Amino acid sequence: MLEGEERRGKIFGAANEIKNKTRKRQEKGFRVVVTGKGGAGKTTVTAMLARMLGRKGYGVLAVDEDPQMNLPYALGLEEAQSDKIVPLTKNLDYVEEKTGARPGEGWGLMLRINPNVSDVVNRFGVQGPDNVSMLIMGTVIQAATGCLCPENALLDAVVKYINLREGEVILMDTQAGVEHFGRALAQGFRQAVIMTDATFNAMQVAFHSAKLANQLGIPYIHLVVNRVRGEKDVQKANSKIPSGLFTTIHYFPFDESLLDFEPDVGPLLDMTPTSPLVEKVGGLRDDIEKYSLSS
Ligand SMILES: Nc1ncnc2c1ncn2[C@@H]1O[C@H](COP(=O)(O)OP(=O)(O)O)[C@@H](O)[C@H]1O
Ligand SMILES: [Mg+2]
Repeated sequence: MLEGEERRGKIFGAANEIKNKTRKRQEKGFRVVVTGKGGAGKTTVTAMLARMLGRKGYGVLAVDEDPQMNLPYALGLEEAQSDKIVPLTKNLDYVEEKTGARPGEGWGLMLRINPNVSDVVNRFGVQGPDNVSMLIMGTVIQAATGCLCPENALLDAVVKYINLREGEVILMDTQAGVEHFGRALAQGFRQAVIMTDATFNAMQVAFHSAKLANQLGIPYIHLVVNRVRGEKDVQKANSKIPSGLFTTIHYFPFDESLLDFEPDVGPLLDMTPTSPLVEKVGGLRDDIEKYSLSS
């Protein structure tokens, strides 16, 4: 009798602990940057994570910095609505309002380097399904000498502002890489997901990004080897991954049904039985939630 009660007590205790942890995470929120080589699956996985976390009750803000700007479609926003979105860097009036300079008007101008952009989500955030809203930043302009152009000054300010937002999950899909935003990013983003496939080139890019993220002080770095077609791919990738660089390592299977539904990842999330890819993304989501509470 007593034993049974004790066991029940323990189960209730454990259940309460999970509930408390979830509540704490929901109150605080957390931020994750997703990066990797073009075509590695960043947008697909960002969208799946965003909607899974949204369905779990988090308020999610998905931020798109990938020049392809296909995150809204992947998140299941209606095509007509997605087509209408103007990325922040192309919103010349907003760039000028905030930085004091209009894109394309030369770099010799005095730029306001740290403008107040606390209105950015209210003005330009777009609401999608599953409790996910999105902010489309547009392209980072890459320049050998570090570009002091108005667009980049605005994006840097947006990243710094995003670091201050509490109580929601922020997922940022970026092709520019963590290094572009430097310490500003590392101040708020404590986790990075680095996407790759099992090819030599993509893995080299991934390891390089991981080292940079590490140097910047992002403490938790998850590696995803995506589009795996079998044990051979797993072994090939596994033999190349340096030890100690990644907090967790995930292998996501190639999933043909993504192509049936694309660009929207929603229908895949709803499939029964659960698709093997969705199951694996769920594993990554669990790890991200777990490390969001580590100090
Ligand atoms: N695990 C997977 N299985 C099959 N196709 C995938 C998988 N992950 C991504 N894809 C497909 O690969 C293409 C590139 O993915 P995407 O997420 O757009 O990459 P990125 O954002 O890194 O450029 C898309 O057509 C997407 O549907
Ligand atoms: Mg993309």
